[in-house]
Amino acid sequence: MHLPDYLEARTRDKRSYNRVSFQIDPSIEKKYVGKTYFIKTYGCQMNEHDSENISALLEALGFSKVEDYLEADLVLLNTCSIRENAHNKAFGMLGRLKHLKHEKKDLIIGLCGCMAQEKSVCDEILQDYKFVNFVLGTHNLYQLPEVLDKSIKENQQQIEVYSREGDLVEGVPVIRSNSYKAFVNIIYGCDKFCTYCIVPYTRGRERSRKKEDIIEEVKELVKDGYKEVTLLGQNVNAYGKDLYDDYNMGDLLEDIAKLDIPRIRFMTSHPWDFTDKMIEVIGKYPNIMPSVHLPVQSGSSRILKLMGRRYTRESYLELFHKIKEKVPGVTISTDIIVGFPGETEEDFQETMSLIKECQFDNAFTFVFSEREGTPACKLKDNTTQKEKEERLQRLNEVVNQIFLEKNQQLEGSILKVLVEGTSEKKDMFFGYSETNKLVNFTSRKEVLCGDIVDVEITSAKTWSLDGKRI
Ligand code: SAH
Ligand code: SF4
Ligand code: F3S
Repeated sequence: MHLPDYLEARTRDKRSYNRVSFQIDPSIEKKYVGKTYFIKTYGCQMNEHDSENISALLEALGFSKVEDYLEADLVLLNTCSIRENAHNKAFGMLGRLKHLKHEKKDLIIGLCGCMAQEKSVCDEILQDYKFVNFVLGTHNLYQLPEVLDKSIKENQQQIEVYSREGDLVEGVPVIRSNSYKAFVNIIYGCDKFCTYCIVPYTRGRERSRKKEDIIEEVKELVKDGYKEVTLLGQNVNAYGKDLYDDYNMGDLLEDIAKLDIPRIRFMTSHPWDFTDKMIEVIGKYPNIMPSVHLPVQSGSSRILKLMGRRYTRESYLELFHKIKEKVPGVTISTDIIVGFPGETEEDFQETMSLIKECQFDNAFTFVFSEREGTPACKLKDNTTQKEKEERLQRLNEVVNQIFLEKNQQLEGSILKVLVEGTSEKKDMFFGYSETNKLVNFTSRKEVLCGDIVDVEITSAKTWSLDGKRI
């Protein structure tokens, strides 16, 4: 058993780590043929991508996937710690699984992802959730086959969570959930330590994959007919800093843009380290999509300082306008937290005015959620939860109106859409534009998933556009 420790998770040093190639233990390969699995994924794209690795690891053991957890022999929760409600959802699901296990004694239940990295969660599982067969941390996900096998063989709860990152493992198998769009990790971890955020503790220090490994992976995807790659990291702008003297995110984007892949996206970009070279490259290569997610969090420099975000309202706006100017037609989306400890009505009004100035194309808005062990927990807070909820509501009314207006400006225009499937509405298809707008459309001609088609926009909604293929 290995349990995580926050103090250790917080440490950062130049300790070297190995880069190793994944290998499955041949003695357990295909050992579980005939058994089924179900994965429930919470959280960000990184977790979604981890679940694609989990699927492949389980299928290497012989498991096959089912879409209903009631039919599965193994249920795995890939969890997220970012806000309390993500936490609560996972514990709610564990509650349902407890009942299920009463009826189905052989059911195997596992928990992995960011919640596994929290000591309080592991303690709770040891105490009150003895029916959970294993808990696996984010740093050793590749050990899933061994840990799962051991928990079954020894019929004993396994908790294998490490506070610190270990080896950087290449070649972990993957079964991608989409045949046209793929996620590619470029950097793991986060060293920014924004004062409200748990990610640096759950995902460890920033570690870049080697550029050769990333480029090789994208080349393989091109060969397999993929149309879009999304380069993933908690902060992609930090790419390369831990590994190279003079090769960074701008250089990587450029090298990938030279490959024969129609669409490149990347997320997430912290405004810090968003270099001129990145902006130049995004503007220069038509296959780098003109769509940037640039979380601002707050429009008040005072709150940004308390958040440890390393930029001010003014420097954010400067960057924002530079990107808008240098990348014609770019859409910019953002994340906003309201109700950070100490946020006054004036601070909140500064966020509102920044939103109005920036006219974001999309925004994910949250009420501050206290995460145990983060510095923001210790800050004084006079605002009630009710006031915070009310701020969120006022903010959402404004951002939703902006989204609608921005979308209405697109009526009559023609957008290139990568087709993903048929829409819930009858006889309609859906996909995303280069600027990352969801488009539902009709077509008289045959449409294939993975095609990139021209769609004329006929009407705008708050979160999507309707159109017809031309
Ligand atoms: N690495 C990304 C953010 C990843 S987390 C970045 O810094 O840009 C996604 C979003 O969740 C954050 O941008 C933030 O808006 C929100 N978030 C993170 N911690 C939170 C907390 N404790 N309470 C509320 N929202 C939070
Ligand atoms: Fe969290 Fe900040 Fe890192 Fe983003 S940059 S993951 S908000 S600590
Ligand atoms: Fe959640 Fe972990 Fe992602 S906390 S947002 S799953 S990195």
